[in-house]
Amino acid sequence: MTVSTDQFQDRMLSLGLARVSEAAALASAKLIGRGDEKAADQAAVNAMREQLNLLDIAGVVVIGEGERDEAPMLFIGEEVGTGNGPGVDIALDPLEGTTLTAKDMPNALTVIAMGPRGSMLHAPDVYMDKLAIGPGYPTDTVTLDMSVKDRVAALAKAKGCSAEDITVCVLERPRHEKTIEDIRSTGAAIRLITDGDVAGVMHCAEAAITGIDMYMGEGGAPEGVLAAAALKCMGGQMYGRLLFRNDDERGRAAKAGITDLDKIYNRDEMVTKDVIFAATGVTDGSILQGIRREVGYLTAETILMRSKTGSVRRMTYRNPVS
Ligand code: FBP
Repeated sequence: MTVSTDQFQDRMLSLGLARVSEAAALASAKLIGRGDEKAADQAAVNAMREQLNLLDIAGVVVIGEGERDEAPMLFIGEEVGTGNGPGVDIALDPLEGTTLTAKDMPNALTVIAMGPRGSMLHAPDVYMDKLAIGPGYPTDTVTLDMSVKDRVAALAKAKGCSAEDITVCVLERPRHEKTIEDIRSTGAAIRLITDGDVAGVMHCAEAAITGIDMYMGEGGAPEGVLAAAALKCMGGQMYGRLLFRNDDERGRAAKAGITDLDKIYNRDEMVTKDVIFAATGVTDGSILQGIRREVGYLTAETILMRSKTGSVRRMTYRNPVS
């Protein structure tokens, strides 16, 4: 089999990306369950940035730790990598679930996606209304324009089951009270999560393992783009609508070049070209095992995926610690 230069580069870079996400998870390991969210996040940021800067790429952070004046490292627009390599956009969240990590609760991840320039929506740091289902359903089986109850009914019909057999994942927040009430009225089950909606969305892609059929609700817009990148690799549908609460947030959208504030983005409008995605488990979850500690070693599990091929690879890394 002959392999094109492009493909080869993509494959090599993907392994580099896995190392970046592993490094962030290993660095935050010593802070799991220590009640210090900031320290856990900082450890992950430092390690992710250090590893990223070893990669032979001319990278620009498009989804990062915040605007340049808010985040000293991995801010939006920061140039990363050695500069000797392809021009790429990077979306990252060095620790998705800082509170989950501090409290040693499930599904904290380190997350990073890489694609060609212009491949990912430059989502401002606002909320996004999100809706996701796994692969195997006709396009637009559920949409953001449908009522919550209609979404459950439509998914149950497409799955060939009753609403009682559907489980929806929702972030536990006061703003979701009505959504939760509407889902319950259909008879569907709800998996409430306290944080971590990238994992929440990814759960839909492996419904048989995770037991989650659909994700819905409002969470961070940057996390929405990362989740769309994951689903582009794993399969599944996702929609997002940016939500603006004030002029400052609308200003952030303008700065990011977004003019249609009401647009509903589907997965491939959030992530327009093929991407590589890597995530490493920090705490145990349904998608990935968290960091394992044994005397002298830390072990990390990473999921590494490429949307071009649909390949999903899980890797275990046992790393000696001094
Ligand atoms: P952090 O890792 O920054 O703590 O964010 C976790 C998270 O739960 C995301 O997964 C989610 O999109 C967002 O926060 C929800 O925001 P809020 O806590 O404001 O409802």
